[in-house]
Amino acid sequence: MKVLVATDKPFAKAAVDGIREIVEGAGHSLALLEKYTSPEELYAAAADADALIVRSDKVTKEVVECAKNLKIVVRAGAGYDNLDLEACTAKGVVAMNTPGQNSNAVAELALGMMVYISRNCFTPGTGSELKGKRVGIHAYGNVGKLVASLAKGFGMEVMIFDPFVKAHEITDPSIKIAATVEELYSSCQFVSLHIPANAQTKGSIGYELLSKMPKGGALVNTARKEVIDEAGLMKALTERSDLKYITDIAADNQAELSEKFGTRVFASPKKMGAETAEANINAGLASARQIVKFFATGDKTFQVNK
Ligand code: 3PG
Repeated sequence: MKVLVATDKPFAKAAVDGIREIVEGAGHSLALLEKYTSPEELYAAAADADALIVRSDKVTKEVVECAKNLKIVVRAGAGYDNLDLEACTAKGVVAMNTPGQNSNAVAELALGMMVYISRNCFTPGTGSELKGKRVGIHAYGNVGKLVASLAKGFGMEVMIFDPFVKAHEITDPSIKIAATVEELYSSCQFVSLHIPANAQTKGSIGYELLSKMPKGGALVNTARKEVIDEAGLMKALTERSDLKYITDIAADNQAELSEKFGTRVFASPKKMGAETAEANINAGLASARQIVKFFATGDKTFQVNK
């Protein structure tokens, strides 16, 4: 079988080497398409691929239709909003992610972003500390749990909101549970977003929630830009000169935000949450193993288009 690694944002070399070892070791072949500049390049490279490993690369209906032999696509990472699941299902292609494999990298970045925005994006002037502040973790999945643990190391209080997690599943008595999303935003100086981008969450974080944040509140977004209502964010930042926004995924109106709000907003130049060698290796090798196992045994653990 031919496995194509198609990554606009290339994996670290050690990850590619590891993927090659796993794929070729199981008797398959590996092809690499990195830093491509048009979807057509992906269509052409995927044309004879049996399996595809991607990062945030868009696996559209066109990709699935061009890849006539495709049987499995693995998103090396957590969020799979870049995969057209309907198109995969229609063509009998199994779609998977690799949950948890890059979570630590994202969680560390979330804390780093809290420090950065609290120190005025490292410009001169008096900043503030994380110690003693409360962080609200919006969605308590793999990344949210790690953020909670790191935040406690900084001496922060932790509150969570996640409608999919039952209270009895939270075994740490120091973690407060918000009954509503409004309670989370109104009780926390920092809110760290860890929700996926889907039909329910897109545009769900806007003026109503942000304007509830306490004085000096900061929203930290290492999740997806699509969950933000950008007009609402603009309105909240305009009305409240104390509010801050830091994101790993630039908003569509980022240039305007940066111009208007200076060091109260910051966006990474390119999403870097999972840009560590460790995360690349964990997620890349997990993808390769999942593909090899799927071809060997039909194993569909981590399938997301059931
Ligand atoms: C994820 O969903 O796993 C992260 O957003 C990582 O995305 P990336 O692989 O494009 O860095």
